[in-house]
Amino acid sequence: MNAPRENASAVDEKKLGSLLEELTLEEKIGLLTGADFWSLNAIEKIGLQKVVLSDGPNGVRGTTWDERDTSLLFPNPSALSATWDPGQVKRAGALMGAQARDKGIAWLLAPNINIHRSPLGGRHFECYSEDPLLTAAIVAGFASGVQSNGVAVTIKHYIGNESETDRMTYDARISEKALREVYLAPFEAGVRAGAWSVMASYNSVNGTSLTDNRRLLSEVLKGELGFDGAVVSDWFATRSTAASANAGLDVAMPGPQGPWNEALVAAVRTGEVAESVIDDKVLRVLRLAARTGYLDGFAVPAPSTTPADAREQLRDIAARAMVVLRNDGGVLPLVGGSINRMAVLGPNAALLTAQGGGSAHVNPVHVISPLAGLREAFGGSVEIDYQEGVSTQRILPAISAEVARDPETGEQGFRVDFVSADGALLGTERRLASRLVFMGTLPAGTTEVRMRTEMTVNEAGTHQFSVSGPGRYSLRIGAAEPHAITLTSADNDLIENLVKPPEHRVSAKLMAGTVGVEMRVALPDFPMAMFGLNHQPPGAASDDSFAAAVEAARNAEVALVFVGTTDEVESEGFDRADMRLPGRQNELVSAVAAVNPKTVVIVNAGTPVEMPWRDEVAAVLWAWLPGQEGGHAIADALTGIVEPGGRLPTTFPAVCADAPVRSTRPVDGVIDYAEGSMFGYRAYEMASIAPAFPFGHGLGYSTWSYEEITAAETESGAVKVQVSVRNTGVRTGREVVQLYLGGEGTGGNDPLRLIGFASVIVRAGESATAQITVDRRTLARWDESAAAWRVADGSRTLVAARSAADRRLTTQIALKDSAA
Ligand code: BGC
Repeated sequence: MNAPRENASAVDEKKLGSLLEELTLEEKIGLLTGADFWSLNAIEKIGLQKVVLSDGPNGVRGTTWDERDTSLLFPNPSALSATWDPGQVKRAGALMGAQARDKGIAWLLAPNINIHRSPLGGRHFECYSEDPLLTAAIVAGFASGVQSNGVAVTIKHYIGNESETDRMTYDARISEKALREVYLAPFEAGVRAGAWSVMASYNSVNGTSLTDNRRLLSEVLKGELGFDGAVVSDWFATRSTAASANAGLDVAMPGPQGPWNEALVAAVRTGEVAESVIDDKVLRVLRLAARTGYLDGFAVPAPSTTPADAREQLRDIAARAMVVLRNDGGVLPLVGGSINRMAVLGPNAALLTAQGGGSAHVNPVHVISPLAGLREAFGGSVEIDYQEGVSTQRILPAISAEVARDPETGEQGFRVDFVSADGALLGTERRLASRLVFMGTLPAGTTEVRMRTEMTVNEAGTHQFSVSGPGRYSLRIGAAEPHAITLTSADNDLIENLVKPPEHRVSAKLMAGTVGVEMRVALPDFPMAMFGLNHQPPGAASDDSFAAAVEAARNAEVALVFVGTTDEVESEGFDRADMRLPGRQNELVSAVAAVNPKTVVIVNAGTPVEMPWRDEVAAVLWAWLPGQEGGHAIADALTGIVEPGGRLPTTFPAVCADAPVRSTRPVDGVIDYAEGSMFGYRAYEMASIAPAFPFGHGLGYSTWSYEEITAAETESGAVKVQVSVRNTGVRTGREVVQLYLGGEGTGGNDPLRLIGFASVIVRAGESATAQITVDRRTLARWDESAAAWRVADGSRTLVAARSAADRRLTTQIALKDSAA
């Protein structure tokens, strides 16, 4: 039976059908592969304008990877789900949709709704949760927000794309039960919320690659779930012609080359692919164009533009998403008047990791560092002593445009020339960044790029310079002989090259003043070009800096230590090898905690890390990868201007070895999802392993007592649950009431699973009632023998809880056997 589609906007299908009739076979197939990296062909004669796609989900990057083309940078997706608030996520989605409209983007390649299966998954930061129900609720919020502004979302990557290692080729072996209960559930929710597009992933599931997977694309997604939008391939994922076309893939990206085009025309001519199959694809693309206002004669979405308060909204959402993991003796929130001297320490204080790495990257107009945020929050009233302490960057920092001048015009920045094989100058740009990426946007015929700058050097001494990214380089510093350097990539994953580029360093003794630097790079034959020029002055983070950080902590009333990952650690293209914070950050925290009892650690990461010092410090605030306004948001959360009311959307193990599923590496090409539905918090319960912080955990700034739970079955078979809670703290606070179900499985012994949640905002001392309605489908499990959802007869326990481990109230309900 088809699932009801609540929000899929109706389109005049008859009109779409008559437009289709006007097209030749070549025109139809020409619409199904990109005109270029990011857009589809326009077809003037039917009023189809060019439909342009862009990545998400950190923001709307647009069609270039260029520091001059800026975009709003949002808190990372796991931060959004940590709000446990689909309303907030809808607000973020609407903001992203509005910016997409401004940038002429019709089709957004977000959200990423794969599951947090292993904490080592490279794109963990880009996904929502380990729990399918929480993921589903957040997906629905995000999709309805983006699409409310007439921009299509793409729920991706369909399906089983939980790992990055060998991501193009691995085969995920997933039982039908786990597929239905865990991995498909968020896609189902996205379709039900009216998503206009789905992306087919690189990997295979149960032996067939997704772009060729007729069962999962045509039978399940389009058939059972009733998806009427367009299925787009992941970039370069389509590896067949007839098989993928017949399986149900609608658009093979990117273009203009690809396995469809003329080959698909030929396959239709020989009868290998029926023309009706092509027609269905074209109708789906036209439907998307009609919904987004790119097809003449159909209603255009209401006007929408990025609101003037976008920055304030990003700041507010980021602060609300932060999670108070620990707060001994109420050291947080920090109260300005009571502090004279504060030590602000750690590498991420001045250099915030605002986003993870990979295709989700956007170029923000600025990133507010925590140090800048705190300086603004505390003004002159608190003396702030900042020390970096340790360094975590693998490659040298890019050169700031502030110290760089175009050698020919004297303007700020870098002069970049594009040169052909015969030495002709094909174009010149003035750029404001020294690391550049081109995705199909280099002038045609470019084989070499030259970057020149006159750089201001403030300190005399030994400076380090480096080039990064695959290519053959010549690097000249001042009047010295140029260095010839060849860099090759260890891996051919484009994104890995981009995020973890190979690097070669040279040193140069310089006087203070200006120095001319020229880098020439002969480009390898890649669809993307990426190269960088980097620099580090004398005297960067050293042991002296570590000692100075500890000293600053000793002399301050409060020590704030900012630790975290970088976008080289959390990224698309590869998985993490462990859960450790890079460099000597753990040592730094312990050393600071040993001299200052009011040590507050702020963790700037999107994915769980080991926190061996967590019991040594007074407080831990998990700040995620908070986006461009992150520094202000962290200051708001630390001072309590906004309650950091987030709850963990995933379990944080004490050590990586405790995680029930760790490996992301295929064995003989296979990733076996042998754990079925039992991973994350359910597996911790089964194995009696206490995590560092459980799923759903988050203290906020209030305390709560749970007073009463009642449950009643409605006529439709749903269960209505009411949980009353009292705010026993001293501030107004928000409580996320979580509802878990026990008593399933053989002997009723399955570990609890989340079946609903609701939040209430309550003033100090007052109480409120959270209402949670659980529909029949949520109460059901997948019955493999009947190939259907089924509620089994018997008694269940409903548990109202503050987290998967902090259970407060229970009640029983009796359920009758039924299909759902
Ligand atoms: C990623 C997708 C992304 C696409 C386009 C792929 O490498 O897996 O998530 O949308 O590139 O950038």
